[in-house]
Amino acid sequence: LAKIEVEMGAIPEGKNLIVKWRGKPVFIRHRTDDEVEEARAVDIKTLRDPQKDEDRTQRPEWLVMLGVCTHLGCVPIGEAGDYGGWFCPCHGSHYDISGRIRRGPAPLNLEIPQYAFNDDEEKIIV
Ligand code: FES
Repeated sequence: LAKIEVEMGAIPEGKNLIVKWRGKPVFIRHRTDDEVEEARAVDIKTLRDPQKDEDRTQRPEWLVMLGVCTHLGCVPIGEAGDYGGWFCPCHGSHYDISGRIRRGPAPLNLEIPQYAFNDDEEKIIV
């Protein structure tokens, strides 16, 4: 299987990186403490696709997702939308800083692919 390795040191806190994996964009965000706190403070009972941030991340500061809107597959824009996360311009879906759908037509949260951290914790392997 094709794997990609991303140097974590290349992504400063508060920044996104987009890499391509099997033709699909993968979003990697190095979240700030405030972003983690915001993501974890959400009452999941209010969510369309209820998922805890803790269940979407292996480490709080690293969010790894497929960059494919769950509505009709456009690529959402980072650092946009009304929930501090991503915004899909095709039909107006807003995702939060955990990649969870908050408003608009998308039915599901942005998908989390399989990924791992390497042993010396310098790389994310998707
Ligand atoms: Fe993203 Fe429709 S494809 S809102």
